[in-house]
Amino acid sequence: MFNELIKKKEITEIIKSTKDKSLISGKSHTFYRYPAAFSPVFAETIINNFTKPGEIVLDPFVGGGTAAVEAIALQRKFYGVDVNPLSVLVSKVKTTILPHSKKIFIKKFNEKIVNGKINFKSKRKKQHQYLNHYFNVKNFSQDEIRKINQIKAGIEQYHFAISKVKDVKVRNFLTCLLLKSAKNILDNTRPCGTFKKFKIDLLSNCKKMLRDMIDFEKELEINKSIYGSHNKIKIIKSDILKLNKINSLKKGKVKLILTSPPYPGIHISYNKWQLHGRRDTKLPYWIMNSRPPVLTKFTYRGEKSRGLVDYYRYMTKVYLKLKPYCAHNCYIVKLLSFRNKAKEFRLYREAMANAGLEEIKILKNGDGRLWRTVPKRRWQVRYSKKKLKSNKEVLLLYRYKNGVISDEI
Ligand SMILES: C[S@@+](CC[C@H](N)C(=O)[O-])C[C@H]1O[C@@H](n2cnc3c(N)ncnc32)[C@H](O)[C@@H]1O
Repeated sequence: MFNELIKKKEITEIIKSTKDKSLISGKSHTFYRYPAAFSPVFAETIINNFTKPGEIVLDPFVGGGTAAVEAIALQRKFYGVDVNPLSVLVSKVKTTILPHSKKIFIKKFNEKIVNGKINFKSKRKKQHQYLNHYFNVKNFSQDEIRKINQIKAGIEQYHFAISKVKDVKVRNFLTCLLLKSAKNILDNTRPCGTFKKFKIDLLSNCKKMLRDMIDFEKELEINKSIYGSHNKIKIIKSDILKLNKINSLKKGKVKLILTSPPYPGIHISYNKWQLHGRRDTKLPYWIMNSRPPVLTKFTYRGEKSRGLVDYYRYMTKVYLKLKPYCAHNCYIVKLLSFRNKAKEFRLYREAMANAGLEEIKILKNGDGRLWRTVPKRRWQVRYSKKKLKSNKEVLLLYRYKNGVISDEI
């Protein structure tokens, strides 16, 4: 079906924001870089064009919380679900504004730990040896192993220090700071960073995160005076299909589902970091004191396996399940990529039709859909011997078939 309802000006804005390739910045978006995140400009534009202040936005695969941050910034209510505890922690921290006294506490606490307590020659040797399990350093150079041992000691001591903090929101913030700083020196970087860099990063990241929080707070205040105060947020850790009911979400209320689900057949490391860009580690879960998620098989299985058959069935069930929560004029907006577009895109469209979703095409030319080239990640280009093909993502717009789209947007 071709769109008759979304105005030309809005389509121009959507196209521009979908193609946005600017570096992720602003609000709390850089608190943690989650894989395959939306562009904030894209999330903001979609929320702005498809909902009004006070209305409900839902992201059933919330990831790094980009939609959550943009929704509360625009004074919308937001519900997010993700099976990954890393996603839930990061999304909660990004959407929590701490009072001034807690910000001061965090700054002082961090300086005290970094400048006094953490040392690469840890007295807590035994404890930091527990971390050996998370570092497969086979065939790494002696120099690299020595450096990694120092970092391990630092991470263990910082982790121990924050475990004593009673306030959950403050502890979550400090955990996110540790995750960000450790990721920066360990994940997809060859060689790994140094212990000195780890300390410098803890200090500078903390300052920047607190500054960003203050700016975000000011933006929220301004938007409150324009749109009224509506923001309400709920982030739930669950497999979306296993969730019995979405807590406190009333039926028929969601105005927009904005999401990028796991991509069929494309492996993305949501649940691990990669030492030297290739050795998997689940260290982030040790840092968070939580278990790594059991990600559904389809998120990492190849196209020939049963994984993808399960994927399409699963996605049909997800949208059938979400339907009762949606308003009659709810839009579903997704960004998605396929490993084998020729085959998988057709199957995906069938899966959505089986869920009762009707696609709305926004362009008059080509196949009517908006495709964008995803920028290759810097480390992939740096370490890959092969010439990497660029991925394409498609913007898909749907509504439930027997829903009635009013011309209010
Ligand atoms: C492409 S990412 C979402 C990124 C997000 N749009 C952002 O801006 O950061 C997809 C997410 O789906 C989550 N996921 C995978 N299977 C899931 C399931 N069965 N239920 C809920 N979340 C799931 C993954 O943990 C991952 O965080």
